[in-house]
Amino acid sequence: MMIIAIDGPAASGKGTLAKRIADLWGLPCLDTGLLYRAVARNVGARGFKLNDVWAALAAARSLDPSELCDPALRGPKAGDGASIVARIPEVRAALLAYQRAFAGQPGGAVLDGRDIGTVVCPAADAKIYVTARPDVRAKRRYNEYIARSEPVTYEVILHDILKRDERDASRESAPMRPAQDACLLDTSDLDIEAAFDAAVGLIKRKIGQ
Ligand code: DC
Repeated sequence: MMIIAIDGPAASGKGTLAKRIADLWGLPCLDTGLLYRAVARNVGARGFKLNDVWAALAAARSLDPSELCDPALRGPKAGDGASIVARIPEVRAALLAYQRAFAGQPGGAVLDGRDIGTVVCPAADAKIYVTARPDVRAKRRYNEYIARSEPVTYEVILHDILKRDERDASRESAPMRPAQDACLLDTSDLDIEAAFDAAVGLIKRKIGQ
């Protein structure tokens, strides 16, 4: 059984790395940001404000994991909304059991998010905290959205990323930060292949392979 925790800020490359690492070791992979994105989307769809604790908690409790496949969750608005509901401790608590059960599958799992190494899986076998300079992250996200024909500008994305970093890192409940025993990986000057090789090297060293 092997649990791998991948954390880091928006558009750091952690999602792509998590999937490739999961494929390499044949493990299931959970993008935990999708849980918060789906909660935010459902709160809005039911006509409530994102900071409405009761509505957000109800949405978290009634979340159906099959909703996580919806490509609309990956758009820019969903990310910002997710960061708002993610500040609510009751929402985080309601999503914890699902994340821990996912991690506890036979064989283990790869999870990516903001608090996997610190809160969700503090005993993970390997923890990586992926970072990249904000301008690099904004450019990556911009290219992704353009490829999907989302109407966005680089400036708006950079602004959103900086705002989200600040909100995710400064909240009281499970703030975004590297676990004490996490390996830091700065992908600013690495392409995906180089970042993947570096991440695999860090994990192998950690698990003694
Ligand atoms: O990884 P992402 O961009 O899809 O995450 C969207 C938001 O969800 C992020 O800004 C903060 C929140 N989030 C969180 O608080 N904890 C996690 N483990 C994952 C995401």
